[in-house]
Amino acid sequence: MGYKLIAVIAVVFVAVALAESPTAKQGREAFEKRCTGCHSLDNVKMGPPLRHVFSQRSGDDPKFPYSDALKKARIAWDATNLDRWLLNPDAVVPDNDMTFRLNNAEERAAIIAYLKELSGK
Ligand code: HEC
Repeated sequence: MGYKLIAVIAVVFVAVALAESPTAKQGREAFEKRCTGCHSLDNVKMGPPLRHVFSQRSGDDPKFPYSDALKKARIAWDATNLDRWLLNPDAVVPDNDMTFRLNNAEERAAIIAYLKELSGK
């Protein structure tokens, strides 16, 4: 009896450890709501794929036809730059092609945590 309970507890702990963090889950949901109209994780849509974007340089996916502005910018997509970008892309890279802003700071933070977790960085 006792060891069965321990086994159950161990399974629960492993399941919790393997699950995404609460922030990343919130970020995935916000990403699906806000970003997937134009982005997917692995395919080119209206925007470039974003699975590996965290900590990469801007304009780095060979399959996507970026604006000259974003290609030339060579920004490192760390958490700070991503946050500024999502708040107002034009303030970070004038003349880029992403016509979208996310004013909700909590959603921006959650989406950035999600992208970070996906990238494994
Ligand atoms: C209306 C369409 C649209 C929406 C919605 C949108 N994007 Fe974009 N995004 C684009 C386009 C188009 C580009 C390419 C911009 C360029 O080439 O100048 C882009 C570029 C980016 C880049 C730069 C990628 C790189 O490889 O340098 C990031 C990061 C990004 N988007 C994140 C997001 C996130 C996160 C969301 C959701 C919160 C989002 N975008 C919502 C259209 C969109």
